[in-house]
Amino acid sequence: MNTSTSSSTMSTTASDATAASALPRIAVLATGGTIAGAAADATNTSGYQAGVVGVEQLLSVVPALSALARIHAEQVASVDSKDMTLALWTTLAQRINTLLAADDIDGVVVTHGTDTLEETAYLLHLTVKSDKPVVLTAAMRPASALSADGPLNLLNAVTVAAHANSRGQGVLVAFNNKIHSARDVVKTSTYAVDAFQSPEVGALGWVQDGRVEFQRQVVRPHTLGAEFFIGDKWPHVEIVASYAGVSRIAVDALVAAGVRGIVVAGTGNGSIHASVQQALADAASQGVAIVRSSRVGSGHVMRNGAAADDVLGFVSAGSLNPYKARVLLMLALAVGGTGPVALQKTFDTY
Ligand code: SIN
Repeated sequence: MNTSTSSSTMSTTASDATAASALPRIAVLATGGTIAGAAADATNTSGYQAGVVGVEQLLSVVPALSALARIHAEQVASVDSKDMTLALWTTLAQRINTLLAADDIDGVVVTHGTDTLEETAYLLHLTVKSDKPVVLTAAMRPASALSADGPLNLLNAVTVAAHANSRGQGVLVAFNNKIHSARDVVKTSTYAVDAFQSPEVGALGWVQDGRVEFQRQVVRPHTLGAEFFIGDKWPHVEIVASYAGVSRIAVDALVAAGVRGIVVAGTGNGSIHASVQQALADAASQGVAIVRSSRVGSGHVMRNGAAADDVLGFVSAGSLNPYKARVLLMLALAVGGTGPVALQKTFDTY
C-alpha cells in the first residue's frame, strides 16, 4: 500500500492544544478520483487527469477541518475509479477495519472517484466491522476547476464522520450537502454537481455549515450486523445486459470461462430476452448463480415465480441495481450460501 501519514492540529497555545485534543480523530483515506483531479486550466471540467493530487494537498485547501477533527491522512491509492480493482477493494476494506479497531480513531472518510463510488460504498457497508462512521465523498469537478466541489464535499464528509449521530448508520456518502446510505445511493448524472441520488427512498439526511441531520434510518442489516468478510479471493461474478437483438454469446463465453455467478441487467421488472434467458437457464443448470436485476434505474425487481425464477432457479435482486447486486452476489458466494433459495434470502435481507 502506498501510504503517507500526517497528523497536525495547527494549534499554537496551550488552551488551543487542549481544545484540539478533545476533537474526534478522523482518518482520511484517499484513493484518487476527480476530487484529486487536475486539468491544464481552471475552465476545463472534463479533460483532466483523475487521481493526481495528493491527500495532503486536498486537506490543505480546507483549513476549517482543523476546527472539526484531528486528521490522520493516508494515500491508499491514486486511481481513476473506473479502474477500481478487487485487490484495491481488499486493501481498502482491510485498512478501514484495522483503523476502526483502534481506540484512537473515531471515524473514517474515504475520498473516491464518482464512477464506481456506489459499488465501493456498498461493499464497505457489508464488510466494515465497526459501528463507527465511515463516509465516502468525491467530486464532479477536478481540484483545479473554478468552483471545484471537492473541498466542500470533503469538509462535509469529515463533519458527518465526526458527528455522534452518524454512528451505527452503516456506510454513508456525503455529497453536495446530502447524506446517502451506501445501500441506496447511485450516480445519476455524468456532469452535474448533484450527481448522486437515492432513487425511491431519498437521502438519509443532510449536512450544511457544520450541522448534520438524519431524517430516516437504514433498516436492512449492515456493518456489524452483516455476515460477510473481506478475503483475498473473490468469486468470479460478471454482469450481462438484456436488450433488443441480444445474443447468448456473452453468457456462454462467461460460463466457459468458469464464472460462479452472473447478474443480468434486465429490462423493466428484470425481464430477459428469450435467447439470453435460455443461456442463463443452461448456466443455472450447471450451478452458476443467476441474479435478475433491472437496467431501469429505480424501482425493484419482483420474483416472477412460475415464469422463470422458480422453474429455472433464478434469484431476484430486489431494489439493488446490477452493480450493487454483483457486489452482494460476490460476498454471498464467498461465505457459501450458493443455492437459489439461500441466495434469494440473502438478497431479501440485504
Ligand atoms: C473517477 O471516478 O475516478 C473519475 C470520475 C469522477 O471522480 O468523477
